[in-house]
Amino acid sequence: MERIFDAEILSNEEVAEKIYRLTVDAPSLERNARAGQFVQVKISDEFTLRRPLGIASTISGHVKIFYRVVGRGTETLSTKKTGEHLNILGALGNGYSTREGKVLLVGGGMGLAPLLLAAEKFSADVLMGGRNQGEVLFWQEEFKPHADKIFITTDDGSYARKGFAVDLLPDILAAENYSAILTCGPEIMMRGVAKFAHEKNLPCEVSFERRMACGLGACLSCSIDTLNGRKKVCKDGPIFNAKEVFDYESDNTKS
Ligand SMILES: Cc1cc2nc3c(=O)[nH]c(=O)nc-3n(C[C@H](O)[C@H](O)[C@H](O)COP(=O)(O)OP(=O)(O)OC[C@H]3O[C@@H](n4cnc5c(N)ncnc54)[C@H](O)[C@@H]3O)c2cc1C
Ligand code: FES
Repeated sequence: MERIFDAEILSNEEVAEKIYRLTVDAPSLERNARAGQFVQVKISDEFTLRRPLGIASTISGHVKIFYRVVGRGTETLSTKKTGEHLNILGALGNGYSTREGKVLLVGGGMGLAPLLLAAEKFSADVLMGGRNQGEVLFWQEEFKPHADKIFITTDDGSYARKGFAVDLLPDILAAENYSAILTCGPEIMMRGVAKFAHEKNLPCEVSFERRMACGLGACLSCSIDTLNGRKKVCKDGPIFNAKEVFDYESDNTKS
């Protein structure tokens, strides 16, 4: 269910360089949000367009959002203080399908945000990749209470295993039977994950990111081509069956 509401900011703190954890009081999102859904945040009157951000946690009505400062909107968001209010539209999008049995969550960078909510809602192990120690340590703490096993890689080898998350997939998939893989992060990573899932005959769902305006399926700014025709990432997604968006024969993204 989607609605517009004002939410009080409970905290807005930097957890790694240029990465913030925003916690808002939003009990309605706890009741209605599915893992993989997102909200459109009105940053201030200065910005016409809202900014899409994934819902990462909904415990006790306290909704957590993690964002990287990349431009003017997120820079302004990072200056918001406890006690101020944010206008929020959501929950938006479809979300990951509910799964029986244990799932494997595979995330890179800020792609771990929607997977944290998946770990809260499903039985899950998580495989996470980040650029360096700072970019994975806080995620490790966030996932600890919810995930059974946590596997970590860093690009520069400053923490855990050096390399990319997909490098660990063959060993992880050989050691445990998962009912599905849910992934979110850079498209090149998701394509690699989806290929492994395809080879193992495992269901795989991927989360797509496109520039968005309305977030409601009305403006077509977020359209992608899929094997089932043109789809809107905000309304038909952001979660897609990997088979719908990746062409395994040519190893290309459809969109
Ligand atoms: C469904 C969805 C969920 C997302 N969840 C998260 C999240 O949980 N955490 C997080 O840090 N980021 C998330 N993003 C990306 C986030 O929306 C953008 O980083 C943010 O809108 C940038 O705003 P800005 O004003 O700071 O940057 P701008 O100055 O507008 O742009 C800076 C850079 O960000 C990219 N960007 C800008 N707007 C968007 C947009 N609407 N969609 C995608 N890329 C954009 C631009 O291509 C550019 O490279 C999500 C995007 C989508 C579509
Ligand atoms: S953002 Fe307007 S249709 Fe998707």
